Amino acid sequence: MQIQELSTPALTVDLDTLERNLEAMAALCRTQGVGLRPHTKTHKTPELARLQMERGAVGLTVAKVGEAEVMTLAGLDKILVAYPIYGAEKLKRLAALARRLEILVSLDAEATAVELSSAAASQSATIGVLVEFDSGFHRCGIAPGPEAVRLAKKIQKLPGLAFRGLMTYFGQVWGTSDQRRLEADQAAQEVAKALDAFEEARLPVEIVSGGSTPSAEFAGRVKGLTEIRPGTYVYNDLNTYYQGACRLEDCATRVVTTVVSTAVPGHAIIDAGSKTLSSDPLRAGPSSGCGLVVEAPDAPLIKLNEEHGYLDITQSTHKFHVGEVLTVIPNHVCTCVNMHDEAFLVRGGEVVGCWRVAARGKIR
Ligand SMILES: Cc1ncc(COP(=O)(O)O)c(C=O)c1O
Repeated sequence: MQIQELSTPALTVDLDTLERNLEAMAALCRTQGVGLRPHTKTHKTPELARLQMERGAVGLTVAKVGEAEVMTLAGLDKILVAYPIYGAEKLKRLAALARRLEILVSLDAEATAVELSSAAASQSATIGVLVEFDSGFHRCGIAPGPEAVRLAKKIQKLPGLAFRGLMTYFGQVWGTSDQRRLEADQAAQEVAKALDAFEEARLPVEIVSGGSTPSAEFAGRVKGLTEIRPGTYVYNDLNTYYQGACRLEDCATRVVTTVVSTAVPGHAIIDAGSKTLSSDPLRAGPSSGCGLVVEAPDAPLIKLNEEHGYLDITQSTHKFHVGEVLTVIPNHVCTCVNMHDEAFLVRGGEVVGCWRVAARGKIR
């Protein structure tokens, strides 16, 4: 079957591009001497997580217990839940996983550690803990320094927990290559502050987990980092492209869509709206836009309703007609993938398979 024959809207993944992205990140990590623990929130697909592990990943990252369950059900192990999970129901499920498999969790509060400890201890499980510190994104994480050491010491005393190291997220590393290098260097100073405090306290830190896709090329500049957790790199998207962190041809994911109306002058309507592409805005490049139409880049996708996408065709040289099949590169691929039950696999324009996006919608 050709892409054009798919029932639309449909999420497609170009396998040649995906494989190139997987190899490139694995090589980038090897040359910089850091481990790769890819964040699976981008693809939410165990088959792809396995490809990452086969290419030398030291483990996987998830944000939610439900995502960890999907990955472990598929036989995957060594999972870091890079999110401060709170709540008895979720922690009970997490401890059940930790009885059988290596589970790490990041957290930044004693209250979270106490909850996690009682869940782990009640099931005779051991959960590895990374203390999350703030290296500049100002979302989660305690200040790098004595406060982080104090939390680590408390964790060491709690039953069912094992202090394994530190975690931080470089979400602030964003923008042009120069901006990203500068921000990565600033993050490196925060990482150094954290490590100095642990060294002073003579508390060994086994894992230092950081990184992201836009910061991946600068990981080697961050002294002490043992692993990075990029997610988006597998598929890439417009946000990555407009930062210059990938080329357009490195975007592996396209949403295949059909023009369903040209009745109203000035625009063409496609069957991909916010329930297909997600409403996440562009955070890099042009100030607006809901995705890039590959076949007609001069027709901006200016607005989304739930099931309708509005192409502004007033400046376009392309002649749009009802029934025409187009392909769209999403702004933010992670939230787009989460909208789809399946990803159709494409090689050379031919649909050669399909993955179930098994962890989509796993928000608990
Ligand atoms: C904690 C954490 N780690 C890693 C990542 C991966 O970032 P990216 O998708 O830019 O590679 C994210 C992204 O949201 C994150 O929140």
